[in-house]
Amino acid sequence: MSKINPKLENVPETMLWTLHNRATEAMREDGIIEDEKCIEIFKAIDYDYVKSFGKAEPSHAVRSLDFDREIRSFLEEYPDGIIINLGEGLETQRFRFDDEALWISVDLPESIKIREQFIESDERHLHIALSATDKSWFDKVPKDKAIFVSAQGLFMYFHEEDVRILLQDIVNTFEQGYIMFDTIPRLFSQTTTSKKGWKKTPHYTVPKMPWGINKSKIEKTFKDWLGKKVKVYDIGYSTFPRGVSGWFFSFLSSVPILRNITPSIVKIEF
Ligand SMILES: C[S@@+](CC[C@H](N)C(=O)[O-])C[C@H]1O[C@@H](n2cnc3c(N)ncnc32)[C@H](O)[C@@H]1O
Repeated sequence: MSKINPKLENVPETMLWTLHNRATEAMREDGIIEDEKCIEIFKAIDYDYVKSFGKAEPSHAVRSLDFDREIRSFLEEYPDGIIINLGEGLETQRFRFDDEALWISVDLPESIKIREQFIESDERHLHIALSATDKSWFDKVPKDKAIFVSAQGLFMYFHEEDVRILLQDIVNTFEQGYIMFDTIPRLFSQTTTSKKGWKKTPHYTVPKMPWGINKSKIEKTFKDWLGKKVKVYDIGYSTFPRGVSGWFFSFLSSVPILRNITPSIVKIEF
């Protein structure tokens, strides 16, 4: 079968980076994630993953499993809740679930186009080709049910103002739910926006990530933005199974002064 050339650039191309890391982990005998659909898509795409992103590592599989765990617990609490994935790219999360909930995927038109080459939408799995910052996707979401908004690998590509407005609009529009997303520290963000940028490999410079937040600012920032009643959980990442990135991560997390500048995962309850 001939492979598909995704012809993606800028931030949409980064969906291939996370796909590369998740699929490679899923193909390992000792891999932490099981995901046949992810492997199938990975193999069907004509792209030199290693040339662009380097050797695969487990961080994105760890992140996906952290999001899976929180969504499972949400569905136990609200079996008829709605899961809204912003910037879902080629994440195959819904194939890792056996549930009856409504899943809504919101991504840019060029990204939904490539997603639909592999993953069909249906009445329980909607695809919306819009920027997450375009509030017209709100109209497609029933307002009488709890929601779980998930944004993996997305908000760092936004400006802080856009993140703030989006979070405020969600909390002010919907009755109740959770918003979960990952964050990067400011230093990391500044590296990507510097003149040199972050050259991940000689062939690939990561798109600018304008929004970073240090861990010490997480709780106060979101309470200031969203009001004291929201609950803010700085969940962090689960332990990495192996590899240099995991060692580095554990090292940063174990030194109090450095812990502040580790990437994190945040869940907001409203
Ligand atoms: C790093 S990828 C993450 C993909 C997926 N969440 C995952 O973890 O594999 C970033 C994703 O954000 C999407 N994206 C970028 N800007 C966006 C926007 N304004 N609104 C919605 N999605 C956006 C890209 O198209 C891409 O799918």
